[in-house]
Parts: sequence; structure tokens; C-alpha cells
Amino acid sequence: MTVVVLLGAPGAGKGTQAAILAERLGVPHIATGDLFRAAVRDDTAIGREAAAYMSRGELVPDTITIGMLLERLGRKDAAPGAVLDGFPRNREQAGALDGALVARGAQVDRAVLIEVPADELVRRLSGRWICRKEGHVYHERKHPPRKDGICDIDGSALYQRDDDRPETIRARLAQQLGALGDVIAYYRDRGVLGSVDGTVSVPDVTAALVAQVTAVPKGA
Ligand code: AP5
Repeated sequence: MTVVVLLGAPGAGKGTQAAILAERLGVPHIATGDLFRAAVRDDTAIGREAAAYMSRGELVPDTITIGMLLERLGRKDAAPGAVLDGFPRNREQAGALDGALVARGAQVDRAVLIEVPADELVRRLSGRWICRKEGHVYHERKHPPRKDGICDIDGSALYQRDDDRPETIRARLAQQLGALGDVIAYYRDRGVLGSVDGTVSVPDVTAALVAQVTAVPKGA
């Protein structure tokens, strides 16, 4: 089982890179933000509870988040591993993940921080467009679709996330960067932390990530 955790501030490019990396590694891309947005869209109990936290730019409580992630990680398609995007977001989540992986004779093989300065994060999030069908990610200037409002890959309509409004972007950055620092320290202490420059092009970030992920022998 290969488990890679992508870390980074909101807008650092975790979702963009996790999708590519997961395909290369042949494992699913599991994003707690995507799971929550699907739950909100389907109006499930988890979605109704998570929606208020997400709209304020706050982390959803661990009591909801950890169970949801572990349930997804326990499904058959994740038996060979996963690229995790947006989880863990604090020490408690990191500990719960370790506990679940140890029970399966596995561990987090690599946690890679995608580093991007704060002013660039705001520019990225406010210009982001996402496809309704598969979540493919675009940026109106840096990575525009060939046809406005339409996904290049599957032809579905593009939309902007509710939490990408300027005031919610500011709240997300203010509320979540402290906890991100704790998770970075957690993986540094375990000797599995790497980092890449997230300000270069998408293919260049991918190349640096692949180098980080393949540099560490499994189980090291
Ligand atoms: P989540 O969906 O995880 O959002 P996030 O962490 O804020 O991250 P984003 O998805 O906004 O950004 P990203 O790093 O994936 O960047 P992207 O690739 O899209 O979480 C949403 C909410 O759910 C949270 O606020 C919280 O409420 C809740 N939640 C989720 N997980 C939780 C957890 N574990 N615990 C508690 N609560 C949780 O890229 C951004 C933009 O930049 C795009 O437009 C893209 O095209 C562009 N871009 C990407 N790479 C580059 C590049 N190299 N150069 C130029 N542009 C680039």
C-alpha cells in the first residue's frame, strides 16, 4: 500500500497535483473537500453539518471528518493506497490516519508540502473554475479552458466554489494556516516530510513531486 499526503495552504495546488499524481501511481485521489462538497450537494446529514463550517472558512470538526475519510480509505479501490488531498489538517487527524494505517500494516510513505506565498494563493483562488462532472480545475488566466465556461476534458459546465469569495478566502487562510503548521511539524518529526516549490508551472510542480515521492524506498 502506498499512501502519499499532499500538504499546502488553500489554493497551493493540492487538488491539481493530487489528480495527476494519483493517476501516475495507480491509486485513488481522496480529497476531504470533495467528499464534503458531494455531501452538501446530496444534502446528506454530513453535508448539512459541514456546510456551515465550510461557508465560514473553518475546519469541519474531527468527529465528522475522520470517520468520513477512514470510511473512504477503507473501500476496495484504496487497497493499493491513495493520494490524500486536504487530510490530515491537524494533529488529531494525522494521528487517526496513522492508527488506521498501522492496523493495515501500512504508513504514510511521504508527505509533501506544496509551498506558495499568501498573495499568490488569493490570486489563484479568486480566479479558479471547476468542472461540475469530475472536478477538473482551471484558472481564468493561468490555466484557462479552451472554451469559456466549458471543461476541456469532459465538456461539462464550469463553476466557482462558494468558499472562493474574497471574504471566505481570507477567513480560510487566517483560520487554517496554524493547523497546517502543526501537521508539517508532525510529518517532519516522523522523517517523511518533503517540500516542493508550488509557484512554478503545473508540469514542473508535478515533476518535483514525483521526484519526492519516488525518492523514498517504501517502508523506509
Ligand atoms: P478543500 O477543498 O480541501 O480546500 P483547500 O484546502 O482550501 O484547498 P483548495 O481546494 O482551495 O486548493 P488546492 O490546494 O486544492 O488548489 P487547486 O489545485 O484547486 O477544503 C474546503 C473546505 O472543506 C475547508 O475550508 C474545510 O471547511 C473543509 N475541509 C476539507 N478537508 C477538511 C479536513 N481534513 N478537516 C476539516 N475540514 C476540512 O489550485 C488552486 C488554483 O490555482 C486553481 O485555479 C489552479 O488552476 C491554480 N493552480 C494550481 N497549480 C498552479 C500552478 N503551478 N501555477 C499556476 N496556477 C496553479
